[in-house]
Amino acid sequence: MEFLQTKAELRAWRQKVKDGVGFVPTMGALHEGHLSLVRRSLEENAWTVVSIFVNPRQFGANEDYHRYPRTLDRDRRLLENLGIAALFAPSEEEIYSPEDEVWISLTRLSRLWCGSYRLGHFDGVALVVTKLFNLVAPNRAYFGEKDFQQARIIEKLVSELFYPIEIVRVPTVREPDGLAMSSRNTYLSPRGRAQAVALYKTLQYIQALVPKTRLTADLLREARTYLIERFPEVKLEYLAIVDEYSLEPIEHLSQTSQPRALIAAYVEGVRLIDNLSLTVPPDAE
Ligand code: PAF
Repeated sequence: MEFLQTKAELRAWRQKVKDGVGFVPTMGALHEGHLSLVRRSLEENAWTVVSIFVNPRQFGANEDYHRYPRTLDRDRRLLENLGIAALFAPSEEEIYSPEDEVWISLTRLSRLWCGSYRLGHFDGVALVVTKLFNLVAPNRAYFGEKDFQQARIIEKLVSELFYPIEIVRVPTVREPDGLAMSSRNTYLSPRGRAQAVALYKTLQYIQALVPKTRLTADLLREARTYLIERFPEVKLEYLAIVDEYSLEPIEHLSQTSQPRALIAAYVEGVRLIDNLSLTVPPDAE
Protein backbone atom coordinates (compact mmCIF):
# COMPACT_ATOMS: atom_id res chain seq x y z
CA MET A 1 0.00 0.00 0.00
CA GLU A 2 1.33 3.41 -0.95
CA PHE A 3 1.02 6.06 1.75
CA LEU A 4 0.44 9.41 0.02
CA GLN A 5 0.33 12.72 1.85
CA THR A 6 0.58 15.35 -0.86
CA LYS A 7 -1.41 16.22 -3.97
CA ALA A 8 1.73 15.73 -6.05
CA GLU A 9 2.26 12.19 -4.69
CA LEU A 10 -1.38 11.32 -5.34
CA ARG A 11 -1.31 12.69 -8.89
CA ALA A 12 1.88 10.79 -9.68
CA TRP A 13 0.31 7.56 -8.36
CA ARG A 14 -2.91 8.21 -10.28
CA GLN A 15 -1.03 8.65 -13.56
CA LYS A 16 0.60 5.25 -13.17
CA VAL A 17 -2.60 3.25 -12.66
CA LYS A 18 -4.86 4.42 -15.52
CA ASP A 19 -8.46 3.13 -15.09
CA GLY A 20 -10.23 0.79 -12.69
CA VAL A 21 -9.97 3.06 -9.63
CA GLY A 22 -12.40 2.75 -6.72
CA PHE A 23 -12.36 5.52 -4.12
CA VAL A 24 -13.53 5.50 -0.51
CA PRO A 25 -13.39 8.95 1.10
CA THR A 26 -13.40 8.85 4.92
CA MET A 27 -12.55 10.95 7.94
CA GLY A 28 -10.73 8.01 9.53
CA ALA A 29 -11.50 6.35 12.91
CA LEU A 30 -12.41 3.42 10.71
CA HIS A 31 -15.03 0.88 11.78
CA GLU A 32 -16.79 -2.04 10.07
CA GLY A 33 -19.02 0.40 8.18
CA HIS A 34 -16.00 1.95 6.45
CA LEU A 35 -14.41 -1.45 5.93
CA SER A 36 -17.53 -2.69 4.13
CA LEU A 37 -17.10 0.20 1.65
CA VAL A 38 -13.45 -0.71 1.19
CA ARG A 39 -14.20 -4.41 0.67
CA ARG A 40 -16.85 -3.57 -1.91
CA SER A 41 -14.40 -1.36 -3.76
CA LEU A 42 -11.73 -4.07 -3.64
CA GLU A 43 -14.20 -6.49 -5.21
CA GLU A 44 -15.21 -4.14 -8.02
CA ASN A 45 -12.02 -2.30 -8.97
CA ALA A 46 -8.43 -3.09 -9.87
CA TRP A 47 -7.18 -0.31 -7.59
CA THR A 48 -8.71 1.01 -4.37
CA VAL A 49 -7.75 4.37 -2.88
CA VAL A 50 -8.96 5.43 0.57
CA SER A 51 -8.65 9.00 1.82
CA ILE A 52 -8.50 9.99 5.47
CA PHE A 53 -9.10 13.67 6.05
CA VAL A 54 -11.04 15.25 8.91
CA ASN A 55 -12.57 18.04 6.87
CA PRO A 56 -12.79 21.27 8.93
CA ARG A 57 -15.25 22.86 6.48
CA GLN A 58 -18.04 20.42 7.30
CA PHE A 59 -18.04 21.09 11.06
CA GLY A 60 -19.99 23.95 12.61
CA ALA A 61 -18.34 26.28 15.16
CA ASN A 62 -19.81 24.38 18.13
CA GLU A 63 -19.34 20.91 16.70
CA ASP A 64 -16.78 18.20 17.43
CA TYR A 65 -14.02 18.99 14.89
CA HIS A 66 -11.26 19.15 17.53
CA ARG A 67 -12.60 16.18 19.45
CA TYR A 68 -13.22 13.99 16.38
CA PRO A 69 -11.29 10.70 16.85
CA ARG A 70 -8.00 10.63 14.93
CA THR A 71 -6.48 7.13 14.77
CA LEU A 72 -4.27 7.27 11.69
CA ASP A 73 -1.73 4.59 12.72
CA ARG A 74 -4.46 2.07 13.49
CA ASP A 75 -6.43 2.97 10.34
CA ARG A 76 -3.30 2.63 8.24
CA ARG A 77 -2.66 -0.88 9.58
CA LEU A 78 -6.28 -1.94 8.95
CA LEU A 79 -6.16 -0.70 5.36
CA GLU A 80 -2.78 -2.29 4.72
CA ASN A 81 -4.21 -5.64 5.90
CA LEU A 82 -7.21 -5.29 3.59
CA GLY A 83 -4.83 -4.82 0.67
CA ILE A 84 -5.79 -1.42 -0.76
CA ALA A 85 -3.49 0.15 -3.34
CA ALA A 86 -3.12 3.61 -1.80
CA LEU A 87 -4.02 5.66 1.26
CA PHE A 88 -4.22 9.43 0.81
CA ALA A 89 -3.94 11.25 4.15
CA PRO A 90 -3.27 14.93 3.42
CA SER A 91 -2.73 17.77 5.87
CA GLU A 92 -5.24 20.62 6.00
CA GLU A 93 -2.79 22.84 4.04
CA GLU A 94 -2.74 20.35 1.15
CA ILE A 95 -6.50 20.72 0.70
CA TYR A 96 -7.25 24.31 1.70
CA SER A 97 -5.47 27.63 1.49
CA PRO A 98 -6.43 30.85 3.29
CA GLU A 99 -6.87 32.44 -0.19
CA ASP A 100 -9.50 29.89 -1.29
CA GLU A 101 -12.67 31.43 -2.71
CA VAL A 102 -14.60 28.58 -4.30
CA TRP A 103 -17.62 27.30 -2.42
CA ILE A 104 -19.91 24.53 -3.62
CA SER A 105 -23.52 24.86 -2.59
CA LEU A 106 -26.58 22.74 -3.22
CA THR A 107 -29.52 25.08 -2.97
CA ARG A 108 -32.21 22.62 -1.86
CA LEU A 109 -30.78 19.22 -0.88
CA SER A 110 -28.12 20.76 1.40
CA ARG A 111 -30.67 22.66 3.40
CA LEU A 112 -33.10 19.86 4.24
CA TRP A 113 -33.09 17.68 7.37
CA CYS A 114 -29.55 17.46 8.79
CA GLY A 115 -28.67 20.49 6.68
CA SER A 116 -31.23 22.66 8.46
CA TYR A 117 -29.65 21.87 11.84
CA ARG A 118 -26.02 21.78 10.69
CA LEU A 119 -25.86 24.93 8.59
CA GLY A 120 -23.16 24.74 5.92
CA HIS A 121 -22.36 21.11 6.73
CA PHE A 122 -23.28 19.61 3.37
CA ASP A 123 -21.73 22.49 1.44
CA GLY A 124 -18.48 21.67 3.27
CA VAL A 125 -18.91 18.00 2.35
CA ALA A 126 -19.63 18.89 -1.29
CA LEU A 127 -16.52 21.09 -1.43
CA VAL A 128 -14.10 18.51 -0.06
CA VAL A 129 -15.59 15.68 -2.10
CA THR A 130 -15.28 17.81 -5.26
CA LYS A 131 -11.62 18.50 -4.48
CA LEU A 132 -10.98 14.82 -3.72
CA PHE A 133 -12.77 13.66 -6.88
CA ASN A 134 -10.63 16.06 -8.93
CA LEU A 135 -7.44 14.72 -7.38
CA VAL A 136 -8.28 11.01 -7.34
CA ALA A 137 -10.32 10.92 -10.59
CA PRO A 138 -11.93 7.64 -9.60
CA ASN A 139 -14.15 5.48 -11.80
CA ARG A 140 -16.33 4.55 -8.83
CA ALA A 141 -16.77 6.12 -5.39
CA TYR A 142 -18.33 4.46 -2.37
CA PHE A 143 -20.65 6.07 0.21
CA GLY A 144 -22.49 4.49 3.12
CA GLU A 145 -26.27 4.67 3.29
CA LYS A 146 -26.06 5.55 6.97
CA ASP A 147 -25.69 9.16 5.90
CA PHE A 148 -28.40 8.88 3.30
CA GLN A 149 -28.72 12.62 2.67
CA GLN A 150 -24.98 12.86 2.07
CA ALA A 151 -25.14 10.00 -0.45
CA ARG A 152 -28.00 11.71 -2.33
CA ILE A 153 -26.08 15.00 -2.34
CA ILE A 154 -23.01 13.34 -3.82
CA GLU A 155 -25.15 11.64 -6.47
CA LYS A 156 -26.62 15.03 -7.40
CA LEU A 157 -23.19 16.68 -7.42
CA VAL A 158 -21.78 14.04 -9.76
CA SER A 159 -24.76 14.28 -12.07
CA GLU A 160 -24.86 18.10 -12.26
CA LEU A 161 -21.11 18.59 -12.56
CA PHE A 162 -20.85 15.80 -15.19
CA TYR A 163 -18.31 13.73 -13.28
CA PRO A 164 -17.73 10.39 -15.05
CA ILE A 165 -17.90 8.65 -11.67
CA GLU A 166 -20.30 5.91 -10.63
CA ILE A 167 -21.54 6.46 -7.08
CA VAL A 168 -22.06 3.20 -5.24
CA ARG A 169 -24.27 3.30 -2.16
CA VAL A 170 -23.42 0.62 0.40
CA PRO A 171 -25.94 -0.57 3.04
CA THR A 172 -25.50 0.51 6.66
CA VAL A 173 -23.51 -1.86 8.88
CA ARG A 174 -25.09 -2.34 12.29
CA GLU A 175 -24.04 -3.57 15.73
CA PRO A 176 -25.78 -6.80 16.84
CA ASP A 177 -28.54 -4.76 18.58
CA GLY A 178 -29.16 -2.69 15.44
CA LEU A 179 -27.23 0.52 16.26
CA ALA A 180 -25.75 1.91 13.05
CA MET A 181 -21.95 1.92 13.20
CA SER A 182 -20.50 5.42 13.53
CA SER A 183 -17.22 6.92 14.67
CA ARG A 184 -19.27 9.06 17.08
CA ASN A 185 -20.57 5.98 18.94
CA THR A 186 -17.22 5.97 20.74
CA TYR A 187 -18.27 9.16 22.60
CA LEU A 188 -21.08 7.27 24.41
CA SER A 189 -20.92 5.88 27.94
CA PRO A 190 -22.26 2.31 28.43
CA ARG A 191 -25.56 3.84 29.56
CA GLY A 192 -25.74 6.11 26.50
CA ARG A 193 -24.76 3.21 24.27
CA ALA A 194 -27.76 1.25 25.57
CA GLN A 195 -30.06 4.22 24.77
CA ALA A 196 -28.57 4.79 21.32
CA VAL A 197 -30.38 1.77 19.91
CA ALA A 198 -33.51 3.97 20.18
CA LEU A 199 -32.94 5.35 16.69
CA TYR A 200 -33.05 1.99 14.95
CA LYS A 201 -35.86 0.72 17.20
CA THR A 202 -37.96 3.77 16.26
CA LEU A 203 -37.35 3.17 12.55
CA GLN A 204 -38.31 -0.49 12.96
CA TYR A 205 -41.41 0.58 14.88
CA ILE A 206 -42.48 2.70 11.91
CA GLN A 207 -41.94 -0.22 9.54
CA ALA A 208 -44.03 -2.48 11.80
CA LEU A 209 -46.90 0.05 11.70
CA VAL A 210 -46.87 0.49 7.91
CA PRO A 211 -49.38 -2.32 7.24
CA LYS A 212 -51.85 -0.50 9.53
CA THR A 213 -51.80 2.95 7.96
CA ARG A 214 -50.57 4.74 4.87
CA LEU A 215 -50.71 8.17 6.45
CA THR A 216 -47.22 9.25 7.39
CA ALA A 217 -48.54 11.84 9.90
CA ASP A 218 -50.08 8.96 11.89
CA LEU A 219 -46.93 6.85 11.63
CA LEU A 220 -44.72 9.70 12.80
CA ARG A 221 -47.00 10.65 15.70
CA GLU A 222 -47.08 7.07 17.00
CA ALA A 223 -43.34 6.65 16.53
CA ARG A 224 -42.59 9.85 18.47
CA THR A 225 -44.77 8.63 21.34
CA TYR A 226 -42.95 5.27 21.28
CA LEU A 227 -39.56 7.00 21.40
CA ILE A 228 -40.49 9.32 24.27
CA GLU A 229 -42.01 6.51 26.34
CA ARG A 230 -39.36 3.86 25.72
CA PHE A 231 -36.24 6.04 25.55
CA PRO A 232 -36.88 9.15 27.65
CA GLU A 233 -33.18 10.14 27.70
CA VAL A 234 -33.00 10.43 23.91
CA LYS A 235 -33.59 13.94 22.52
CA LEU A 236 -35.19 13.77 19.10
CA GLU A 237 -34.02 16.32 16.54
CA TYR A 238 -36.14 15.20 13.61
CA LEU A 239 -38.08 12.19 12.41
CA ALA A 240 -39.40 12.20 8.86
CA ILE A 241 -40.67 9.96 6.08
CA VAL A 242 -39.38 11.15 2.73
CA ASP A 243 -39.18 10.20 -0.89
CA GLU A 244 -35.79 8.51 -1.41
CA TYR A 245 -34.97 10.52 -4.49
CA SER A 246 -36.09 14.08 -3.67
CA LEU A 247 -35.86 13.73 0.14
CA GLU A 248 -39.12 15.72 0.33
CA PRO A 249 -41.66 14.55 2.92
CA ILE A 250 -44.41 12.26 1.69
CA GLU A 251 -47.90 12.22 3.13
CA HIS A 252 -49.20 8.91 1.81
CA LEU A 253 -47.32 5.65 1.39
CA SER A 254 -48.03 3.67 -1.73
CA GLN A 255 -46.36 0.69 -3.33
CA THR A 256 -45.07 2.91 -6.08
CA SER A 257 -43.47 5.40 -3.67
CA GLN A 258 -39.94 4.83 -2.43
CA PRO A 259 -40.28 5.93 1.17
CA ARG A 260 -37.42 6.19 3.62
CA ALA A 261 -37.68 7.07 7.30
CA LEU A 262 -34.95 9.42 8.55
CA ILE A 263 -34.06 10.14 12.16
CA ALA A 264 -31.57 12.35 14.03
CA ALA A 265 -31.36 12.44 17.81
CA TYR A 266 -29.04 13.32 20.66
CA VAL A 267 -27.88 10.76 23.21
CA GLU A 268 -25.74 12.22 26.04
CA GLY A 269 -25.21 15.26 23.80
CA VAL A 270 -23.90 13.10 20.94
CA ARG A 271 -25.73 13.61 17.65
CA LEU A 272 -26.63 10.32 15.95
CA ILE A 273 -28.44 9.67 12.67
CA ASP A 274 -30.03 6.66 11.02
CA ASN A 275 -32.52 5.78 8.27
CA LEU A 276 -34.49 2.85 6.93
CA SER A 277 -36.04 2.12 3.55
CA LEU A 278 -39.73 1.34 4.20
CA THR A 279 -41.43 -1.59 2.53
CA VAL A 280 -45.08 -1.02 1.69
CA PRO A 281 -47.00 -4.32 1.54
CA PRO A 282 -49.88 -4.67 -0.94
CA ASP A 283 -52.50 -4.87 1.81
CA ALA A 284 -51.61 -1.33 2.92
CA GLU A 285 -52.94 0.02 -0.42
O1 PAF B 1 -18.85 10.66 5.41
C1 PAF B 1 -17.74 11.14 5.69
O2 PAF B 1 -16.92 10.52 6.38
C2 PAF B 1 -17.40 12.53 5.20
O3 PAF B 1 -18.52 13.35 5.20
C3 PAF B 1 -16.69 12.54 3.84
C4 PAF B 1 -17.59 11.99 2.74
C5 PAF B 1 -15.42 11.71 3.91
C6 PAF B 1 -16.31 13.98 3.46
O4 PAF B 1 -15.47 14.55 4.40
